Amino acid sequence: MAPSTAAKRVPKGRKRPENTAACISTRSTAAKRVPKGRKRPENTAACISTRSTTVKRVPKGRKRPENTAACSSTRSTTAKRVPKGRKRPENTTVCISQGESRGQSPLDPSLKGRVGRVKLLDITNLTKHHHKENSPLFSGINAQINEPCIISVIGASGQGKSTLLRIIGMLESADEGTVRYRNRLSSEWFPHDWRTKVCYVAQQAVMLAGSVEDNLRTVSRLQKKEMDIKLAKQLLHAVKLEDLDWNKRAADLSGGEKQRLALVRSLLLRPEVLLLDEITASLDIQSKQAVEQLLLDWHNKEGVAMIWITHDLEQASQTSSQIWFMANNTLCENSPTKTFFECPATDLARGFLQIPDGTGEQA
Ligand SMILES: Nc1ncnc2c1ncn2[C@@H]1O[C@H](COP(=O)(O)OP(=O)(O)O)[C@@H](O)[C@H]1O
Ligand SMILES: [Mg+2]
Repeated sequence: MAPSTAAKRVPKGRKRPENTAACISTRSTAAKRVPKGRKRPENTAACISTRSTTVKRVPKGRKRPENTAACSSTRSTTAKRVPKGRKRPENTTVCISQGESRGQSPLDPSLKGRVGRVKLLDITNLTKHHHKENSPLFSGINAQINEPCIISVIGASGQGKSTLLRIIGMLESADEGTVRYRNRLSSEWFPHDWRTKVCYVAQQAVMLAGSVEDNLRTVSRLQKKEMDIKLAKQLLHAVKLEDLDWNKRAADLSGGEKQRLALVRSLLLRPEVLLLDEITASLDIQSKQAVEQLLLDWHNKEGVAMIWITHDLEQASQTSSQIWFMANNTLCENSPTKTFFECPATDLARGFLQIPDGTGEQA
């Protein structure tokens, strides 16, 4: 779905949160009207926005993942179309809920054993201070990932989202606290092994010296294996880089090409946890949709957990099943995506989502 470029109207006297501008185009700002004389239930404020019913476009020749039907909207009130001559199955509500958002297609059952009962990631009391200052960038972050899921990390710029992901990816160290992957502390792993399993994909893609092919072959070199050329080609095709000249100097690629090549390079590692840092931020709409679709397919087929920083709230609501909202120097909310967008628990999140105060008049 091509998001509207029209920026959401910000109520007079209120400031648009940084970087949320046009990302939120499909969320209505209109608060549900509460009948005169009745009070809006607490915490439900304007959670009931009428989300666009527009169907996310599936790239030509590609199949929409099962169970995601034609509606990827998280809050469409439109009835799912039932083929002519067929009856709508009983008990299927006509309200397409968040549970059918694209990121939540059931995993291939054979992948469930991939994780078993072991916690994938366990983050305990993570704290990081600002450079040369004693004030915390964030502190007391606790979170677990028990099974492969897609988590969107959202929050204003400067909250430490990238730093958090880089610590989880063992590219930086925490000042306090621990991260465990598969029940083992990061300090018990060889960093190289950890980074292969828990792989960070940077917002500003870093190309290695040499050609596109050199970059693609890095993974097989690291793993001392033959390169899976078929998979590399499939992945490049999926992100619309099928025509990329493998002999081209990687440094000469455009920013968007570098970003997609870096993603493909990371997927070739077949990590169990992907840490995605605004990886679609500099992509055109078609490339962005192609990347989203690839990641959802990859998640469903490979059973990979993803922690995905984004400022695109529509992307967050359509791809993830869980939201980590960072504010106030910590992980302020960790909620299912539907709950977060419909009934955020904190004023900070309501402010971030520009949901008017439930007790006041609608904006
Ligand atoms: N390793 C670090 N240690 C301490 N402070 C950092 C570190 N990396 C970045 N910062 C500072 O923290 C702030 C936000 O960090 P960042 O993780 O980039 O936030 P976000 O991704 O939410 O925008 C910036 O002011 C940055 O200079
Ligand atoms: Mg960042």
